[in-house]
Amino acid sequence: MEGPVAIILAAGHGKRMKSEKAKVLHEVCGQPMIHYVVEAARGAGARTIVVVVGFGADQVREALGGEPDVVFATQTRQLGTGDAVKACHDILKDYRGPAMVLVGDEPLVRPGPLADLIARHTQEKDACLLGTAVVPDPTGFGRVLRDSAGRFLRIVEERDCNPQEKAIREVNPSCYVFDLPGLWDALDQLNTSNAQGEYYLTDAPTLLQSMGRKVVALPVLEPDDILGVNARQHLAQAHAIMQARIQDHWMSEGVSIVDPRNTYIDGRARIGRDTVILPFTVITGSVSIGLDCKVGPFSHLREGTVLGDGVEVGAFVEVNRSQMETGARARHLAYLGDAHVGANANIGATAVTANFNGRTKGETRIGAGAQIGSGAILVAPVSVGDGATVGANAVVTSGRDVPGATTVVGVPARPLKPKAR
Ligand code: UD1
Ligand code: CA
Repeated sequence: MEGPVAIILAAGHGKRMKSEKAKVLHEVCGQPMIHYVVEAARGAGARTIVVVVGFGADQVREALGGEPDVVFATQTRQLGTGDAVKACHDILKDYRGPAMVLVGDEPLVRPGPLADLIARHTQEKDACLLGTAVVPDPTGFGRVLRDSAGRFLRIVEERDCNPQEKAIREVNPSCYVFDLPGLWDALDQLNTSNAQGEYYLTDAPTLLQSMGRKVVALPVLEPDDILGVNARQHLAQAHAIMQARIQDHWMSEGVSIVDPRNTYIDGRARIGRDTVILPFTVITGSVSIGLDCKVGPFSHLREGTVLGDGVEVGAFVEVNRSQMETGARARHLAYLGDAHVGANANIGATAVTANFNGRTKGETRIGAGAQIGSGAILVAPVSVGDGATVGANAVVTSGRDVPGATTVVGVPARPLKPKAR
């Protein structure tokens, strides 16, 4: 087993989400929460990532399927976070070295602080490093107790806190680095004498200390990194913070976002320099936008869409699984689905590619420099040649391809006859 190792706890139901879905699969900016935690662990140097699954195990496995460094451990009954880590014993029993333990419901965790903890472990080989955070509002978190000299004493769960402990603002975000195999000794000694009757992982650091091993709590995490998603309200908060990060990234890369609060950009989208995103634009899925494009207001770009450089997509235009080459324009009220639009082609207002016949999806090809008139309907599969013109309100029927540099009009669309003299 290659280290460093990360263990991500993801077996819980998340009752407060009131959902049939495993909590860690709820999405933040287009991807399941667990995805971000896996990325953070990887970013911090984890070579093997063990995800503990239980409730909705098959869904979680499927969501993370195909990630070569991810393996799964099954926790049959959700007896607490300590028990969840124990479920990794069989997989990790021969491993010696650092294991980060993270939770799958904190999607905002970033790799930097985790990498710092791993770096410190490499030097000091402490039995447990606890990453902590000092937050304005500690509600919902376990509190970190220290002695008068500031040394770590223990973690007290909120439900088990007395009023003084409740006032402590240094919290446990569940970002640990444990030295293996030492952790297994502590897990063997956990008991369930607490308010929830569960095996608490939070008792492990104190147990290690009582065995004479070194435990250090370091306040390396930021309040924004540790938001735990336990209810839908937290999901919305996580989404807002993640969205701000995504937009901040693209603005740093030279993209203008005119109204960040009224713009949504999926974490998988890619956007080129000097592109301007106008208000109420929604970009979902893996979308790629070139340099110097103008998108919005009120545009919806969906999965698989690729815009070349200098493309314009305007008000109430939806582009789905489509490609628009350099300089192509769809400025108002159009739907492009499974379409390929050539360079400098113009799509008129309310023009539509009818890509679904009720059973199958078909493709539409629109050539370079083609002019698609207002209200035109292109019934897929169909192609319009380079430089061709489709008249306003024409219906180009499936298979009746329009040759290059010709004009078609009417319903169904026919070549425009030269005017009689
Ligand atoms: C836990 C910590 C608390 C910390 C908080 C935020 C414990 C006892 N408490 O509380 O100190 O402040 O996280 O990080 O650890 N899980 C399992 N199997 C289980 C139970 C939980 O896999 O049997 C998983 C859940 O899916 C979840 C994670 O562990 O991803 C944390 O569980 P959760 O119930 O959310 O713990 P908190 O009450 O938030
Ligand atoms: Ca939690």
